Amino acid sequence: MAKDFHKEAIQHPIFKLIGEAADELGTDAYVIGGFVRDYFLKRGTPKDIDIVAIGSGIELAKKVASKLKGKPEISIFKNFGTAMIKHKDLELEFVGARKESYNRDSRKPMVEDGTLEDDQNRRDFTINAMALALNQSNFGELLDPFDGLADLDRQIIRTPLEPGITYSDDPLRMMRAIRFAAQLHFTIELPSLQAIAENKDRINIVSKERIVDELHKILMSSQPSLGFKLMHQTELLPLILPELTALEGIEEKEGQRHKDNFWHTLEVVDNIAETTDNLWLRWAALLHDIGKAPTKKFHKKIGWTFHAHEFVGAKMVYKLFKRLRMPLNEKMKFVQKMVLMSSRPIILSEDHVTDSAVRRLVFDAGEYVEDLMTLCEADITTKNPKKQKKYKNNFKIVRQKIVEVEERDHIRNFQPPVSGEEIMQTFNLKPSKEIGIIKDAIKEAILEGEIPNEYEAAYDFMLKKGKKMNLKVHSE
Ligand code: CTP
Repeated sequence: MAKDFHKEAIQHPIFKLIGEAADELGTDAYVIGGFVRDYFLKRGTPKDIDIVAIGSGIELAKKVASKLKGKPEISIFKNFGTAMIKHKDLELEFVGARKESYNRDSRKPMVEDGTLEDDQNRRDFTINAMALALNQSNFGELLDPFDGLADLDRQIIRTPLEPGITYSDDPLRMMRAIRFAAQLHFTIELPSLQAIAENKDRINIVSKERIVDELHKILMSSQPSLGFKLMHQTELLPLILPELTALEGIEEKEGQRHKDNFWHTLEVVDNIAETTDNLWLRWAALLHDIGKAPTKKFHKKIGWTFHAHEFVGAKMVYKLFKRLRMPLNEKMKFVQKMVLMSSRPIILSEDHVTDSAVRRLVFDAGEYVEDLMTLCEADITTKNPKKQKKYKNNFKIVRQKIVEVEERDHIRNFQPPVSGEEIMQTFNLKPSKEIGIIKDAIKEAILEGEIPNEYEAAYDFMLKKGKKMNLKVHSE
């Protein structure tokens, strides 16, 4: 077969330098993996570059570092036989070609030196196993033993070896297959899909952090439902996010049905992916209905209810983050807040939108009110065009009113216009529950629109309220 060269892919001077270093050491070197794949996909040139040496990756890395201006730092991971160099905006990862065999209970392989072909064999997908030669004698030659290029063209995810071996060797690859399918809109070929389903339980030996990394990437893809549908189809989903699969199904009692909240959720996630790149808002879309499974009830008179599902769902968010070892920080609180408030604007949009309801929404959502509106707009999945138009239009009105109300009343970062201190002084009170009652009454009056959010009006209101409570104004 004629040799195929792609020198244009490796024009960056670093590649020539690596080739020279390899020539000096008398080894062969290749760029492999994501860099080559993304070049052919025209996805831009990645900054993470994987180099494989037929011999010692560490020796090659040392040689490369010695030839680079500024003598960059080199991190050596002896146990793994890898080395990393950070050079300008590039991250160069060096490894010796390997032959690997795996232990069934761990992702950590037993490693032996191998040929390029051995190394390519043990990689995850044909599209990730393509290599470009860097030595001077064959600079730019494509080595693609599994026809990864054709798979890129056919848009197929396929493993170099029998799929059962590839996935069982490293079960994280099951998530990677699904993630690549979602990111690239590729199809996972059937034998691979079947092997994932067969090996699904081995996901348990993969660290939660790595699984979550892949979930993040699926969520950040342009149509995340593609990934979640594949997880559902291969039955990985109940092992990772059982809260979601619990939402699946439609029950009917006495002629009354509820919607399938699993498939609805996937639509919501796709909708939100069109309007925001905020990962955590996408998580909120994914989890906004999880409280519906444990709260579902049928009542003879009113039909299906999911009473307090937002509250229950927000609590479940904490447990889910904890189980997946995700950080229990502000991001988690944000997702909880979104889940907790996820029905509020919808209720608003069904009725006439009053100023006071909007003020309460802004008060409760604070700085996240825009995000909440984005979530709720994505939540509109009704196929009834009349209802869809009505909801969208009402949300438009809500958004307008948020701007108007905010300009006038500054509710977003609400600070009580009269302080507790001043209430104490006015009525000569010691710290007591009366102060809280008065402060709360002022806040309520502002939210209800009885008084503007201003000092004087709030002060007058305080005096009246105190009078009603039989408090005497302290005269000095
Ligand atoms: N690889 C593998 N099995 C894994 C992880 C990685 O075989 N579980 C191989 C693949 O050849 C992959 C390369 O290592 O292309 C580099 O892995 P990584 O940097 O994680 O992924 P990329 O393919 O570069 O893609 P991305 O940056 O999108 O994750």
